[in-house]
Amino acid sequence: MGSLGVTVDPVRADKLHEVKPISGIHIQVKPTDLVEDANKSAYKIIEEPSRARRRLRILCVGAGASAINFAHEVQESDLDLDLVCYEKNPSIGGTWYENRYPGCGCDIPSVNYQLSWAPSAEWSSFYSSASEILAYFQNIVDKHGLMRYIKLSHRVVGAFWNEEEKMWHVKIQRGEDPNDIIEDKAHVFVNATGVLNKWKWPAIKGRELFRGPMLHSANWDSSIDLKGKKVGVIGSGSSAVQIVPNIQPIVGKMECFIRSAGWVTAGFGQRFAGKNGSNFKYSENQKRILATDPQKYLAYRKKIESELNSRFRFILNGSQEQQDARIFAEKEMRRKLTSKPEIADLIIPKNFAVGCRRPTPGNGYLEALCEENVTVVSESIQEITSKGILTTDGVEHEFDVLVCATGFDVSWKPAYPTIGRDQKSLSDEWDGQPSTYLSITVPHFPNYLIFNGPYGPYGHGSFLPITELLAKHFIKVLDKMSSEGVTSFDPKQEAVNDFIQHRRQFLPRTAWSSPCRSWFKQGTVDGEIMMWPGSRIHFFETMQNPRWEDYNLSYTTSNRFGYFGNGFAAREFSGQDLSWYLGTLEGDDTQPELPDEDFLEFMVQSHIE
Ligand SMILES: Cc1cc2nc3c(=O)[nH]c(=O)nc-3n(C[C@H](O)[C@H](O)[C@H](O)COP(=O)(O)OP(=O)(O)OC[C@H]3O[C@@H](n4cnc5c(N)ncnc54)[C@H](O)[C@@H]3O)c2cc1C
Ligand SMILES: NC(=O)c1ccc[n+]([C@@H]2O[C@H](COP(=O)([O-])OP(=O)(O)OC[C@H]3O[C@@H](n4cnc5c(N)ncnc54)[C@H](OP(=O)(O)O)[C@@H]3O)[C@@H](O)[C@H]2O)c1
Repeated sequence: MGSLGVTVDPVRADKLHEVKPISGIHIQVKPTDLVEDANKSAYKIIEEPSRARRRLRILCVGAGASAINFAHEVQESDLDLDLVCYEKNPSIGGTWYENRYPGCGCDIPSVNYQLSWAPSAEWSSFYSSASEILAYFQNIVDKHGLMRYIKLSHRVVGAFWNEEEKMWHVKIQRGEDPNDIIEDKAHVFVNATGVLNKWKWPAIKGRELFRGPMLHSANWDSSIDLKGKKVGVIGSGSSAVQIVPNIQPIVGKMECFIRSAGWVTAGFGQRFAGKNGSNFKYSENQKRILATDPQKYLAYRKKIESELNSRFRFILNGSQEQQDARIFAEKEMRRKLTSKPEIADLIIPKNFAVGCRRPTPGNGYLEALCEENVTVVSESIQEITSKGILTTDGVEHEFDVLVCATGFDVSWKPAYPTIGRDQKSLSDEWDGQPSTYLSITVPHFPNYLIFNGPYGPYGHGSFLPITELLAKHFIKVLDKMSSEGVTSFDPKQEAVNDFIQHRRQFLPRTAWSSPCRSWFKQGTVDGEIMMWPGSRIHFFETMQNPRWEDYNLSYTTSNRFGYFGNGFAAREFSGQDLSWYLGTLEGDDTQPELPDEDFLEFMVQSHIE
């Protein structure tokens, strides 16, 4: 560290004498200025125009919605960025590729679960199925040529920060062979692995003893025929709520093991949905409007989005909206469970509000629970046996097939070693409970950016605007790195501490703090709340620009203004408009010709001759 509080990048330091020729323009280069800083280390002018952007290599893990959108942002950017997204699966799509259980779909209206830069006029229904969303992402990847950034069947197995080089060294396994490992390195390492990507079996004794097929919602085997079978379903979260009504008409007999109460509501944006919040198919006329009237399409999306954005008020304890939502949800659940009111008494929550866990939109779920061939089991599971499930009352429930809709490893820890500065391991740092700066960065893990990190605004609304906003934020980070000679950034611990303090003061005001088990609290009832302390709009405004005052930075030179360079700005040589700040002619940022003849009436004749 120099006396100016900045670090010199040894890789770059030896290149500082290089003078880059700028084609067609002769620059009078003065003898190199030499400034001795207090440490007596030489500071030399970089003989380049200011903000000469250095090329940055970026490695991203994943090719789900976040990485796809990020790749598009990189493609659109005028920075010199070299991006590779390593994806373990043989397909893009993440969540929408992996989750193929019957009925898997989105609870956000289709027109609001899409990327703002790629509105589709092809949506078949108000809410989309997983396969339609996967097709949407595949289509935009193809249409925008994003596959050139993505390497499929490449699993990241380790990431190691190299302080000397200020780069991440990343190990990647190709295909299924654990010995086929390649190495890559990059200035910036982006984690876009998603929080709901590591499915896990439930921690129930005897799980491996069951002699029939055992399916997990996020690892569904469609070759297992459920027709006429005796099926046990463990879980009552969002996945179970979609699976149960979709397999109930097929199976012979089904028993649903429900451990906890939960609010089963209609999908988001239900006012715009079909009767009682049900899905509906878009008519040919509606599709024609989506295809031909972009203004109306945008207005339609905005109308629904604005309503979703107002949902934060439901989350605030004591709000009228929360009370109304609770009364409405209870009334609706009881109505749908009229034929088996005992289920209502069992599953309607008594001590937590709607929204404590992610609402489980369940079109047809409660109705399915009331069907003849379905039984709800509230007795706790003691163990899994070769024949089925033994509950604590001593009853053995026998099944042909067991379905575990039991969720994911929501520890947020990366599935591979991520080793930062001073050999700190992210899994160790996050043992017990993760900690981030505003959900995106981590102290001691320089040049590490996270999509979907702990403490983001995931409680309400569509995920896609969040990831779009973060991609824009990250491009601003990369711009600074590239243009201002920043070689590393990591958040200051005191900024993280302030974030923790604020969150802990604020979040008890929300429904998330009430006693429900939720992935918002790492699958606990009373753990740390991993949510943003505010609304989505609050997050969007906060994350508009990086707060550099919260970061430690190091630079390519011993002087933070090294990037001022040779006194010229790059646009003075690039042919860009030299007076753009007055406004550009026809919006074009190139220097216009402006011949004297066009201005005769304003110029003294003798000067022209
Ligand atoms: C069943 C289900 C339904 C959902 N429904 C909704 C909804 O209705 N509305 C909503 O807003 N959100 C919903 N979500 C949340 C959903 O996950 C996000 O909306 C979004 O898809 C997340 O995108 P992502 O790219 O950040 O993560 P993901 O889609 O999870 O993608 C992460 C990618 O990283 C890859 N990856 C992970 N580890 C590695 C590794 N080591 N090496 C290489 N690649 C790796 C994975 O294979 C995956 O492709 C749902 C989630 C699930 C599981
Ligand atoms: N369309 C959609 O919007 C949609 C669909 C699916 C998933 N998702 C997303 O994915 C998240 C995860 O949903 P998910 O349903 O897959 O998982 P989940 O919400 O974590 O639900 C898991 C269920 O399994 C139960 N369970 C877990 N272990 C158990 C055990 N040992 N014994 C008995 N029961 C056990 C849980 O009971 P407890 O309740 O007691 O913990 C819970 O009911 C959702 O919150 C949502 O964000 C969204």
